[in-house]
Amino acid sequence: MKTFALITGASQGIGRAFAEDLASRKKDLLLVALDEPALYQAQREVRATHGVECHTLGIDLTEDGAARRVWEWTQENGFSVDTLIPNAGFGRNGIFERAELAEYLAMMKLNNQAVVELTYHFLPQLKEHSRSYLLYMSSMESALPLPYKAVYAATKNFVYNFALSLREEVKEADVTVTVVCPGPVITNEDGLKRIQTQGAKAKLLVLFPDQVAREAIRGMLRGKQIVVPGRTAKVLTFLGRTVPAPYKMPLLERMFRAYREE
Ligand SMILES: NC(=O)c1ccc[n+]([C@@H]2O[C@H](COP(=O)([O-])OP(=O)(O)OC[C@H]3O[C@@H](n4cnc5c(N)ncnc54)[C@H](OP(=O)(O)O)[C@@H]3O)[C@@H](O)[C@H]2O)c1
Repeated sequence: MKTFALITGASQGIGRAFAEDLASRKKDLLLVALDEPALYQAQREVRATHGVECHTLGIDLTEDGAARRVWEWTQENGFSVDTLIPNAGFGRNGIFERAELAEYLAMMKLNNQAVVELTYHFLPQLKEHSRSYLLYMSSMESALPLPYKAVYAATKNFVYNFALSLREEVKEADVTVTVVCPGPVITNEDGLKRIQTQGAKAKLLVLFPDQVAREAIRGMLRGKQIVVPGRTAKVLTFLGRTVPAPYKMPLLERMFRAYREE
């Protein structure tokens, strides 16, 4: 039976780069994202460039029952998934109480609830394969409680802990669980402009989506537990996890104060 990699948030950014990297390895793909032209454009490009089989589902993963609908779509079409990458997610910067509560709830639904639900529906099938993969998108920020990114950083901490816990539970079943923790990734023009205005310091840390995808997929296929793409990010992640909270929190507040007004 033909097997597929299912990637959410695959129409642009890092998810799109995951699709490109896997297709270049001749992996057939199931791409899931909002029902927007970019999703179908990604499908056309992947098919034309790599000649792999590629199917799409346009769906809003913050809606109730959406993850179950993704699972049903694969069942109705006889798609067997041996690689699941629940990548779709978004963040927001700024003072906590200045954003709408609805935006935080949507962030938690997409970044966390949809990730857990997709895992829950697909795990029994992943276990049936002789080798299968779960690749989770966390962030370098999962190492840090972050003022002015409080909810986003917490959602990425959730993904990090969930992935590491699940990895131990499923290792007997030959399901490899890997969690990726990138620093800032330039996924659009706005991101590029923001990095350019921050100067040389930021340039040491930022990566492009294809660099993140390459390192993450290589790590996943080698069965790595955690992938932190980029050297600077590795050092900062180590510091973030080891420096005690009373020392790092006031420092982080000063460093991220620039995000207050976003
Ligand atoms: N960019 C970074 O600096 C960075 C750093 C560390 C970790 N990450 C994580 O990496 C992942 C991908 O980030 P990215 O920067 O590549 O994001 P992005 O460029 O904004 O792309 C997000 C993708 O998710 C899809 N999506 C958004 N809302 C959705 C919804 N409600 N239902 C279904 N699909 C939805 C988008 O579809 P549309 O194209 O239709 O909107 C798009 O395909 C996220 O989990 C993010 O937290 C990003």
